[in-house]
Amino acid sequence: MEKRFDEGFDNILTYHYDEEYIRGKQFRAQNLVQSLGRKRYSLNGKWHFAPDVFKSTVRTHWYEEVRNNRFGEPIPYDYDFEAWDTIDVPGVWNNQRAEYALYEGAGVYFRTFSGEELERAGFGMSEKTRIWLRLEGANYETRIWLNGQYLGRHLGGFTPFCVELSSLKKEENRLLILVDNTRKGEQVPSAHYDWFNYGGIFRDIYLFETPKTYLQDWMVQLSRTKEGEMEYQLRIASDSGDLRTRLNAKIEIAQLGVKEEIVCTRTEEEGAVCFAAEGSFAFRESNLRKWTPKHPICYPVQIQIPGEDLCTEMIGFRRIETRGQKIFLNGRELFLRGMCVHEDSERSQRALCEEEIREEFRQAKELGCNFLRLTHYPHSPMAAQIADEMGILLLEEIPVYWALEFANPQTFDDAQNQLEELIRRDRNRASVIIWSVGNENPDSEERFSFMRRLVEKARTLDPTRLIGASCLIDVERRAIRDRLMDVLDVVGINEYYGWYLKDFETLGEILENYATDKPLLITETGADAVCGYFSKEKAIYSEEYQAEVYERQFQTLLAFDFIRGVMPWVLYDYPSMRRMSALQKGYNLKGIIGKDRAYRKLAYHVVKRVYGQIEKKEGRL
Ligand code: GCU
Repeated sequence: MEKRFDEGFDNILTYHYDEEYIRGKQFRAQNLVQSLGRKRYSLNGKWHFAPDVFKSTVRTHWYEEVRNNRFGEPIPYDYDFEAWDTIDVPGVWNNQRAEYALYEGAGVYFRTFSGEELERAGFGMSEKTRIWLRLEGANYETRIWLNGQYLGRHLGGFTPFCVELSSLKKEENRLLILVDNTRKGEQVPSAHYDWFNYGGIFRDIYLFETPKTYLQDWMVQLSRTKEGEMEYQLRIASDSGDLRTRLNAKIEIAQLGVKEEIVCTRTEEEGAVCFAAEGSFAFRESNLRKWTPKHPICYPVQIQIPGEDLCTEMIGFRRIETRGQKIFLNGRELFLRGMCVHEDSERSQRALCEEEIREEFRQAKELGCNFLRLTHYPHSPMAAQIADEMGILLLEEIPVYWALEFANPQTFDDAQNQLEELIRRDRNRASVIIWSVGNENPDSEERFSFMRRLVEKARTLDPTRLIGASCLIDVERRAIRDRLMDVLDVVGINEYYGWYLKDFETLGEILENYATDKPLLITETGADAVCGYFSKEKAIYSEEYQAEVYERQFQTLLAFDFIRGVMPWVLYDYPSMRRMSALQKGYNLKGIIGKDRAYRKLAYHVVKRVYGQIEKKEGRL
């Protein structure tokens, strides 16, 4: 019988239009290809864009771009990629048009590029090479089509992913990207959190080229436990036609006299051939000038498959460890003078540019910080690169925040994948000293098992850093009690004595009862204050009240030697849609600097004074 409607119509009548995508290919941490040290072809710029409220891109197959029926007659269609308005990538959609400001849902991006452009940019584009597309961040679920063909999807709003583009055309390639920031219970983070849910492709997007057999991923770091040793992990990917059983690679650090031959052995994962090696090698550590915040020295490290592939990356080497309740950086005791910071500015919202990140770190240093807690999700990859260069220590964190579906295996898989993507992205960055696996998660068997497995995963991916989390306080028992503490290297707590809870005595008692032989970090403390609201009576929300909370907090906390870092909440005021009082107006006001990233509240000066005193006492590392 003659079919009356085009193919897409079937999908209007069913709810299950999405299943094939959910079952289909997912871009995961295992597919990430290291791109540092490789030539890039940027796809940043203007992209055509439209909100896709009903997800018609998939429901009615917009990506097929059917404009004629099989008799060649024109038929109606509901999209017009090339005629759509453009928006900036990278950028969140929220600040690009007034009507997108609070939009949560799917949005579709479109642009073209040609193979010729890539050739002109120096890409080989031959049988012997592969072209990759890499997105550094798109929130939350991303699906990609090239020339009408579906390539797969990625979950997670803050971590990078890669996809190989295998059938590029010389003339025009049509790239369609669907980004969906709908909040869902099973996601990581879940549907409820205290920051703004921006949408879109908000970090760099680019192409790069590798040989057929290529260095996929590597880590070279100073061993945490063994003096005079470097630890490495190396992974080379090839294709099924590669019959070799082992492959030789080389790690060279010319300035340190390191020239290490590494034998990688063949493994096969889901039909893909790769060669991997993991271990350590000895080197003359006395030659090394270690990376410190004061002298952030990085060395060019060359990784190669001789005759096939070569990458150079700047890496700093330092040792971070704990002994009992102390933290040591390169053998010297370390106190973390920190602040928490969200990735959110008035100008760029979540799509901070390089200058803004540099300015953030400059301000943190001026305040006397040697450390930042980058909350509550992985920040731009530029952050750790700039911190390596400017000498700021970092904690990086995945959005395992508040309540999640801890018993849901898919939620675990998503969290674990985000953790792995973050660690693979940044495990050569000297500035990053702590991976945090979560923040204030309600205790249960399922949560403990979830978090314990994340800790184990982090340790296998990176044995050279400390693992932490913001744990729970049992106020009734006046104790920091959380099963998670047993599996961490450093214990974090968030406490708001002086703000949500008033009495500082309870805080003192809780700390008196701390008997764990691990360093304790105050991963959050603070109070709200409205910029420019002064009150002699120290009314709540006044700058005086906030400053007083900081005074009393420091007085209480600094009396305990096992507290090895303080990172108050938060450096700048930031938008949060659960903060709707007349004073808050959609902002969390716990910044010691205003949302303009310039106005300094009274509490700023308290932090600066106290950090100055600590630095003077300890000496600058
Ligand atoms: C929590 C949470 C922060 C939050 C802060 C606050 O502890 O970790 O993300 O914003 O409290 O109440 O302001």
